[in-house]
Amino acid sequence: MEKRILTGIKPTGYAHIGNYFGAIKPAIMLSENPNFDCYYFIADYHALTTLKTKEEMQEYTYDIACTWLACGLDPKKVVFYKQSDIVEDFELNWILCNVTPKGLMNRAHAYKARVEKNEQANFDKDAGINMGLYNYPILMSADILIFGADLVPVGLDQKQHIEIARDIANAFNNKYGKVFKLPDCYIQEGVSTLVGLDGRKMSKSYGNTIRLFASEKELKSKINKIVTDSRMPGEPKDVDCTINKLYKLFVDKESAQEFEQKLKDGLSWGEAKAMLFEVANNYIKPMREKYLYYMEHKDLVDKILEDGAKKARVIAKEYLQKTREAIGV
Ligand code: TRP
Repeated sequence: MEKRILTGIKPTGYAHIGNYFGAIKPAIMLSENPNFDCYYFIADYHALTTLKTKEEMQEYTYDIACTWLACGLDPKKVVFYKQSDIVEDFELNWILCNVTPKGLMNRAHAYKARVEKNEQANFDKDAGINMGLYNYPILMSADILIFGADLVPVGLDQKQHIEIARDIANAFNNKYGKVFKLPDCYIQEGVSTLVGLDGRKMSKSYGNTIRLFASEKELKSKINKIVTDSRMPGEPKDVDCTINKLYKLFVDKESAQEFEQKLKDGLSWGEAKAMLFEVANNYIKPMREKYLYYMEHKDLVDKILEDGAKKARVIAKEYLQKTREAIGV
């Protein structure tokens, strides 16, 4: 049986190398499997909890859309759309609010973390927290349930959200009869956490990312900023270093081993960085060209997303109709 795979990407900043290897590349590989029916979307309304201006919203939405297309997403194989175009999603969101216990939201990690921060600072526990952040997991549940998704590929940090979606689906089904499928989380094995410039997890919140489609110049300067130890040229280097971890991503096993040997043999950090730049840039270059093409042809991107939304809404309407009938409206 064909399985429906669904995942959302928040446009809260420029796509970085961690996003590519951790989420984009594996999701595109899944979409090549004919047993999977894939729905990938830009979670623009979820980004509202983070974004500050209209310009940011537009810039990052196009960045994400063009990135996925440049990385090989085929809109003939994947239903690719913007969340805000699926108006049915927001009607379902409201309905789901009414079967969601408030306590469930109090326990959501993102909200809890903000409350704890406030408490530590001796502020009111809800200071600076809006209802968008509080209700975030309910909208995410609607995103998933409205397409009857079987599997949701996400990072570990989103696991709780998928569990909440299951709880909410169950709560609805128990009250009104079975309408919703219970989605499963799909955490990919072998997709390990990527290291950033400072050796910690590559993450926007740490400010240690390398933008995927940075210009060559910017890519070079970022790579030069990678933190290394003070070992001199000629001294053996620790192969557990950030440069080696990043190098591996861009090359086959054999080249990775050769590089590792050079590090052990005392390659200087400067040379190691130059070699990393070389392989990273070769890998990214063809995709970067496509990315720039799409960024200059936004009408094409708009059309792809509109077509995606049209296809997606056929399914969303069916699910919403069933839900409305179950409730009696
Ligand atoms: N919350 C997800 C994130 O921050 C993005 C997202 C929104 C999502 N809706 C979704 C992911 C539905 C999977 C399914 O990464």
